[in-house]
Amino acid sequence: MNELAGKHIVLGLTGGIACYKAADLCRALVKEGATVQVVMTEAAQQFMTPVTMQALSNRTVYGSQWDPREPNNMPHINLSREADAILIAPCSADFMAKLLHGRADDLLSLMCLARPLQSVPLLIAPAMNREMWAHPATQRNRAQLVSDGATIFDVGNGDQACGETGDGRMLESHELLEEVIAFFQPKTLAGQHVLVTAGPTYEAIDPVRGITNLSSGKMGFSIARAAREAGAVVTLVAGPVSLATPRGVNRVDVRSARDMFQAVQDKVAAATVFIATAAVADWRPAHAADQKIKKDGSGKTPELSFVENPDILAAVAQSTRAQAGDLYCVGFAAESQDLLANAQAKRLRKGVPLLVGNIGPATFGQDDNALLLVDESGTQEMERDSKLSLARKLIANIAIRMKARGQK
Ligand code: C5P
Repeated sequence: MNELAGKHIVLGLTGGIACYKAADLCRALVKEGATVQVVMTEAAQQFMTPVTMQALSNRTVYGSQWDPREPNNMPHINLSREADAILIAPCSADFMAKLLHGRADDLLSLMCLARPLQSVPLLIAPAMNREMWAHPATQRNRAQLVSDGATIFDVGNGDQACGETGDGRMLESHELLEEVIAFFQPKTLAGQHVLVTAGPTYEAIDPVRGITNLSSGKMGFSIARAAREAGAVVTLVAGPVSLATPRGVNRVDVRSARDMFQAVQDKVAAATVFIATAAVADWRPAHAADQKIKKDGSGKTPELSFVENPDILAAVAQSTRAQAGDLYCVGFAAESQDLLANAQAKRLRKGVPLLVGNIGPATFGQDDNALLLVDESGTQEMERDSKLSLARKLIANIAIRMKARGQK
């Protein structure tokens, strides 16, 4: 909450049925602490009334470049100068075409043209029928708007109001909110490719039973989100958890430690940073039964013997690229006691430059955590905070370390 405190956003609505989602988006932006000034085109007002948007934004809505409320009669200048960003959601195909040509015959397009390019970014959430989205003209406009400096969010895929199915829906309000929050984060890892492991692993005993642990995956998912917010390309190898994938993150789902090892090996060649947050099972049953092991009433219990799983982090840290300094490896240690001593010992055993310790039972399943960073020169504490805040701090810290190493 309050991810957008202090931000002033001009929310522009253009003509499209996705205007109904803009009402919820407006509410979500305000809930996160932003102030929102709504500007609507004439067409948008066919889909949503200014009354609704005024009530949700708690500000009167602007629609005309001739609005007499402004003493100088220049709402296009006054409103754009205050903004930290102009967000057009929904942005129709027609409005994209208009922006592309620098047309300015209504308040919203006029404001986009008049905005200071360097200080007021333009964020666009397209919304249209799938044929309109796929049309070469729209795709040409999209590419040109991006090269003119606009940020164009993805479109959603699925059922459309017209009854067709495909690409072109506006993202849902919660997805756009995540994109806007990400937009404002510093791009400390731009150009990097971060590979993250997260969650527990599951080691089968038989087809219906297995061994796992209490890791919720929340810390690793937060790290993946924070890395993507920081501008990295992110791949997340996730054990069995039911968490939503952070926006823009490529997710690979796995079950066992050996699956996770395989997925990491498949993906690590492209990575420049590897962050192992997964609570990988150290051992697995030596033999997983093909069929369910039955209780036969004799009181006899099954004998389980174990074999050790591959140590994913240690193997990656030993790889040629990691050893050559082309891949920065970060390990995690979930301990139940003696965090400092255990984390220091683990850092050396795994052969990684940075090891992040946390107390497992105090954080498993929770939304907050406290971290202890251990490197060759000492330790640094990150006080209890939300996992997302800690993840952002950790990513910023890793970015500084990579810069210091001169890793490209
Ligand atoms: O040895 P331990 O499980 O305590 O080490 C924790 C760190 O090593 C974490 O970063 C974890 O993701 C990683 N690990 C691994 N493969 C294993 C065991 C742990 O990558 N088999």
